[in-house]
Amino acid sequence: MTDSAKHLLLVEDETALRVAVAEQLADAGYQVDQADTGEAALARLAEFAYDILVTDLHLPGVDGAAVVQDALQRYPDIVAVVVTGYGTVKTAVDIIRRGAWDFVNKPFQIDELLHTLNAALEQRRLKSENAYLRAQLDERYRFDGLIGRSPVMKRLFHLLETITGTNSTVLITGETGTGKEIVARAIHHNGPRRAQRFVALNCSAIPETLLEAELFGHVRGAFTGAVVNRQGRFEQAHRGTLFLDEVGTMSVALQTKLLRALQEREFERVGDSHTIKVDVRVIAATNSDLARMVADGQFREDLYYRLNVIPVRLPALRERREDIPLLAQHFLDKFRAHTPVTISQTAMRHLMNYLWPGNVRQLENAIEHAVAFGSSRGQIDLADLPPELAGDNVEPAPGAVTLPEHGVDIEVVIGNLERELIQRALERTGGNKGQAARLLNLKRTTLVEKLKRMH
Ligand SMILES: Nc1ncnc2c1ncn2[C@@H]1O[C@H](COP(=O)(O)OP(=O)(O)OP(=O)(O)O)[C@@H](O)[C@H]1O
Ligand SMILES: [Mg+2]
Repeated sequence: MTDSAKHLLLVEDETALRVAVAEQLADAGYQVDQADTGEAALARLAEFAYDILVTDLHLPGVDGAAVVQDALQRYPDIVAVVVTGYGTVKTAVDIIRRGAWDFVNKPFQIDELLHTLNAALEQRRLKSENAYLRAQLDERYRFDGLIGRSPVMKRLFHLLETITGTNSTVLITGETGTGKEIVARAIHHNGPRRAQRFVALNCSAIPETLLEAELFGHVRGAFTGAVVNRQGRFEQAHRGTLFLDEVGTMSVALQTKLLRALQEREFERVGDSHTIKVDVRVIAATNSDLARMVADGQFREDLYYRLNVIPVRLPALRERREDIPLLAQHFLDKFRAHTPVTISQTAMRHLMNYLWPGNVRQLENAIEHAVAFGSSRGQIDLADLPPELAGDNVEPAPGAVTLPEHGVDIEVVIGNLERELIQRALERTGGNKGQAARLLNLKRTTLVEKLKRMH
């Protein structure tokens, strides 16, 4: 037996079975301690940090569920495996949801248990390696004004850190309200050009006929109304950053002129032949699918590649629901007056279930609305939320194939359906994962993987 042997606590009230299993586990290299009651198990757990807990669910007195709960509270990293008898599958699934690793059905083959334990230990090893790397990032939930601690947002912050120092052109894509503009500003304000100007131009807000002059400037008499010489945004942004918002709305003729300005960093004012050279970092943003527009001939392919040097894709809010409480709190602090305001759990559930077609901007507006209605009570409740949130919920019932007006999140719907089918297959087969997997046409290991992710 080496030092690295895994310490395992086996809890089982049937003596013959316990002794037999303990022997086989010891043969497989585990350092096994035994407990014959829940109480005895709790006492041992209080004294020793086991790597693994294998417990029968049904025990006289303190039952297996309570033992698992106690173990996980003390040692969040412990691998807990539950042994279930007939008719306790539902409880076992519940326990897995609360953090146990897996369950095996009685009677079980020792190989099945060993296989489960091996997989669990391997997973735990990977997790602790990743945890170290993650700890270095965990400190920061924000990058400038950008809030989020979901994995997608952490990856985004990391990407932004890398690209702020460069001069490369950035193309920010994302649905409306996902934060494209604050990302553009963050890139500028955290980079070497921060002392110079950040000039923003919303290409869709300016009539096409004026957009060229707006970008490149004009000379007196260039067109009706051009009574003086004027600098364009490119010139204004010299040595700074030019943010071209809604770049997908630009006409093809103007796209050609923009392409040249990007390639050569030079252009002429409208009505002038004098060439102006500038040093500008360009950041573009769009909520349209430029690649599709290229395929449809509405957007120049060469311009697309010029802009898309560093693509930054902002996730929709529904793709990072775990950030909703954090964002809600942030906006609550922004809009409340002097007294602190909280959000009821019911209201929070609605915030987290909603699809947020308007993304963070819509959430910001919803919280502002809710603060106006609920802050005098010190708590925001369902009725304080805007009607589109307080009303019928958007999370469709599993199995229901409907497409609501505002659309659905296909991943969420499919996830729910999958969970429901797995639950039913396990119930029908009395918790036999092999049979359940066959019912679902899955490999057994795939089913076990999916069960793990069913939180
Ligand atoms: N990650 C975030 N953290 C905090 N606030 C955010 C975040 N993302 C967006 N916001 C806020 O949401 C609002 C909308 O953001 P922004 O204007 O940058 O969106 P956008 O993607 O440019 O939208 P549109 O396509 O409609 O122009 C702003 O008030 C912004 O401060
Ligand atoms: Mg915008």
